[in-house]
Parts: sequence; structure tokens; C-alpha cells
Amino acid sequence: MLRPIQGIFQASEYPNLLVGLDEPDDAAVWQIDEEKAIVITTDFFTPVVDDPYDYGAIAAANSLSDIYAMGGKPFLALNIAALPPNLPTEVLAEILRGGAEKAREAGVVIAGGHTIQDQEPKYGLVAVGFVNPKRFFRKGGAKPGDLLTLTKPLGFGTTTTALKRGLAKEEDVSEAVAWMKVLNRQAAEIAQQIGVTTATDITGYSLLGHAWEIASLSDVGLRLHFDALPFIRGAKAYAAQFIFPGGAFDNRLYFQEHVRFDPKLSEVEQMLLFDPQTSGGLLLAVDPAQWQIFEQAAQNLRQPYWLIGEVTPHGVIEVD
Ligand code: CO
Ligand code: CO
Repeated sequence: MLRPIQGIFQASEYPNLLVGLDEPDDAAVWQIDEEKAIVITTDFFTPVVDDPYDYGAIAAANSLSDIYAMGGKPFLALNIAALPPNLPTEVLAEILRGGAEKAREAGVVIAGGHTIQDQEPKYGLVAVGFVNPKRFFRKGGAKPGDLLTLTKPLGFGTTTTALKRGLAKEEDVSEAVAWMKVLNRQAAEIAQQIGVTTATDITGYSLLGHAWEIASLSDVGLRLHFDALPFIRGAKAYAAQFIFPGGAFDNRLYFQEHVRFDPKLSEVEQMLLFDPQTSGGLLLAVDPAQWQIFEQAAQNLRQPYWLIGEVTPHGVIEVD
């Protein structure tokens, strides 16, 4: 999206802009002084679930996630909404309330925003946070031998697509909604404590697309173990019916050239790894020397995590 404006802003003219012009990352980082930088990001999307409150909460958690994916602490946000003129006021109020209560849970104040009329609803936040300019997470910097851990399960895209087609079980939707509403705050705090330097959050580009961002920007490869990957309960059954959002096919088209699948993996299993996620977990590259400390902290705080693979020197993503 930034390609048309490349060349208008020269990185050398903006020395305080630590992240934002050269390599893509989850959010922009602007250094204020030796100890403080601001992190800024925005995201919004069309409804992923039927309940307007849940939709607002998921959209807010998703918007704040890019601050957490940089290792930052969000504190301020603005609403962005596009809403159909005929939308009942109660529905609008529920979307905004879901977003506001999620922001409040995160310690973030929503201090304004902007709404326009549009046929298809869209909602999200502009979010601002602080981070130490010497201690933030990038997509680059992963080293061969680092362990890869994921902090939420996968399968939200296939499950919410099944919902849209009237094919999803209620309990499967509830499980997806509950995970999508979880803030990535605690996972980011633990990663900060142990000195993680490489992280991103799993969203629209799917596990493999975001994994490829880490691999390419770090100039390494990744090995992922399919059997170690967590999926929400209904995901494999919906995938077996080939129920995927359109983005899953786009992701396969864009990223498959960077991926070597073990031939034992079926097309359905491969597609599950191209499934776009909404408000997915953090993908962290952890120095193996820090792994025990990470596990201890995660277990103490009841932070879910799955060890899903490791960083290799190979320049491709191998899935076995
Ligand atoms: Co992101
Ligand atoms: Co392994």
C-alpha cells in the first residue's frame, strides 16, 4: 500500500522515524528521546461475526495487536467507522461499546474518531502506544536456531467463513470469537521481559504469509511442524469441506513459492496454513537460551503458547 508514496519521503530526512519507511512492519515507530518512542497504527474491517458487540471488541483487539506486535504499550485510540445509514442505532451503539470496553481493558482511552456513511459496515481504531526505542520487536532479526512460538490457535478464517455460509456450529463460532477478543498484551509483555527482538502478529496474510515476512526480513528460513500447530476445534472439519475465505487463495498464490510442504500434507492441510486470521496471536522468535524462562513466565501467567518450529538458515519455509 505504501509503494506509490515511496520516494516522496526519504528516510534520511526523518531520522526519528525508526520504523515506517524502509522495511514493512506491524506499526510505525517515532523516537521522541533516548527512552521513549511512539508506536502508531490503524486497522479496520467489515464484520467477521454476527454479534455487533463482539465485532467491535474483535476489531479493537485486532487494531491494538499491531502495537503489541512491536512490543509497545497502547494508551490512546480513535474510532474509525463506516456505517450504513439504515443501521439501527442500537447496533451501532453495540459495535462502539464492544470496541470501547476492549480498549478500556487494554488501558487505552478512545478520545474521538470519525464516522462516515457506507453500505457495508467497517470499524476499527487508530491506536497509539509507547515503546522503548532500544527494545521493540521487528519482523527482521530472527537467527537460525531461534524457536518459533505462537500464542493463539489458527482456524479463525475458515470458521467465520462457515458462519457466513450458515454452516458453522455455534460452539465453534463461540470458540473463535473468544480467541479473537483476546488481547495480545500479556504475550507481548512476556516477550519484552525475556528480550525477544523478532515478532509479528498473525492476521490477514495467514501463518505462512506472516512467517514469510519474518523469514525474508531476517534473511533466514523457518521450519514449521504441522502436528505442533494448534487449531480451534471446528477448523479442520470446515477446511475439509474446502470452506475458506477468498483471502486464503490469494495468500496461497502470493506465498506458496516460498514454502516447501512435506508431501504427506494434503491440500486441505496446506490451505489451513494460508487461512487469513483476524486478531490472531503473536508469532515470536525466541533465543533457545531464553526458552525455559519464556515457558516459566507463560505458565505462571496462564499465557497459552505453542512451540511450532524453529528458524533455519535456508531461505524458505519448510512445513513437515
Ligand atoms: Co500486524
Ligand atoms: Co523442530
